[in-house]
Amino acid sequence: MDNVSKVIYLNQEPAGSSDQSGTDVRFEGGPLLDLRRRPMHDLRISVTDRCNFRCTYCMPREVFGADYEFMPHASLLSFEEIARVAGIAVGLGVRKIRLTGGEPLLRKHLENLVELLARLRTPSGDPVQLTLTTNGTLLAKKAKALKEAGLQRVTVSLDALDDAMFERMSDSKVSVATVLEGIEEAAQVGLSPVKVNMVVRKGLNDSQILPMARHFRNSGHILRFIEYMDVGSTNGWNLDEVISGQQILDVINAEFPLEPIGAQYRGEVASRWRYKDGGGEIGLITSVSRPFCGDCTRARLSPEGRIFLCLFADTGYDLRSLLRGGADDDRIRDRLAAIWHGRDDHYSEIRGKHTDHSQLTRRDKVEMSYIGG
Ligand code: GTP
Ligand code: 5AD
Ligand code: SF4
Ligand code: SF4
Repeated sequence: MDNVSKVIYLNQEPAGSSDQSGTDVRFEGGPLLDLRRRPMHDLRISVTDRCNFRCTYCMPREVFGADYEFMPHASLLSFEEIARVAGIAVGLGVRKIRLTGGEPLLRKHLENLVELLARLRTPSGDPVQLTLTTNGTLLAKKAKALKEAGLQRVTVSLDALDDAMFERMSDSKVSVATVLEGIEEAAQVGLSPVKVNMVVRKGLNDSQILPMARHFRNSGHILRFIEYMDVGSTNGWNLDEVISGQQILDVINAEFPLEPIGAQYRGEVASRWRYKDGGGEIGLITSVSRPFCGDCTRARLSPEGRIFLCLFADTGYDLRSLLRGGADDDRIRDRLAAIWHGRDDHYSEIRGKHTDHSQLTRRDKVEMSYIGG
């Protein structure tokens, strides 16, 4: 996996120098691009592999039970180490950082990390966009401190409004009201617009599509429906359980007419729709029915410092040994640039071309709870 031999990126040393591992490193003008000419624009940072939920599609209790061994704290990157990698990534083109988990708010004093990241500046002196995806259970308590530390927005996962159905989806005793309180508090302190992610799984929570749409219309929050994906190798994914974005759209459109609106930025994962009566907007994340790999600009940093280039990757590239082995920033930057430059991932497109998914889904892919979406 470490067979990257050339690097091409912006305004660095002269052509033909070599990195410390002896591989050829070539520097040229122009932005850092991967093999499919995609820039590294987003960094998703997973700060913990732990979660207080056991969503059946993400951390099924049969696998993530009492005996499951989560990562020991000592192997997690410290906040300073995370901020160092993030700063280097910003130098290579990253403009948006999202904190994820597991459940990121389980990591103690997360606001201290937010504060470090909020200080980062792009080469032209601008701050980066700083957001967080959470299950919302601790959000009411944490929202204010996160905002004060410099967080700009949050995305909250919520798969049902009905308590019994929510309990079945999340396999937890947390009430829907707790998550809704978290959403309202986040909006109240200015972590807005709050986005709400609903994973739709046929036969489990598809009856909640309309109640969720009704609830979040006119709220100022943006509800996004996510097609159930074959992330990881523990959820027993099956294409028959996917409700497509188009089907979701049809259900909502029949009651509340919608019209499309354009993407806000290149590589936005959700397609956007607005209610014709002015009731706000929704998003559809159609990774299964309409893959968006062509514009995928996301790198992922795992809790113990490995870079993953795709949500469906089976291997990551270790940065922690460099961080803890005394490497200077240039060395780490070269490594990260080389990793990105060699990237060819387009898993969802490949999945779309297969009718038999058994081989693909059987691969040992990284778990969502470890890499955070
Ligand atoms: P904003 O639009 O700024 O809120 O960012 P975002 O949509 O990237 O953030 P969010 O974490 O809410 O992403 C929504 C969900 O889309 C994720 O949790 C994943 O389920 C899915 N997703 C995000 N990125 C990818 C990706 O690169 N590939 C695939 N297949 N799914 C993704
Ligand atoms: N398919 C689609 N979305 C998923 N998420 C977690 N697992 C899956 C899956 N298998 C969503 C969560 C959360 C975000 C991080 O990813 O619900 O909103
Ligand atoms: Fe936890 Fe999110 Fe996975 Fe649910 S989807 S188990 S809330 S990490
Ligand atoms: Fe990006 Fe991989 Fe998702 Fe495609 S499948 S959009 S390459 S993360």
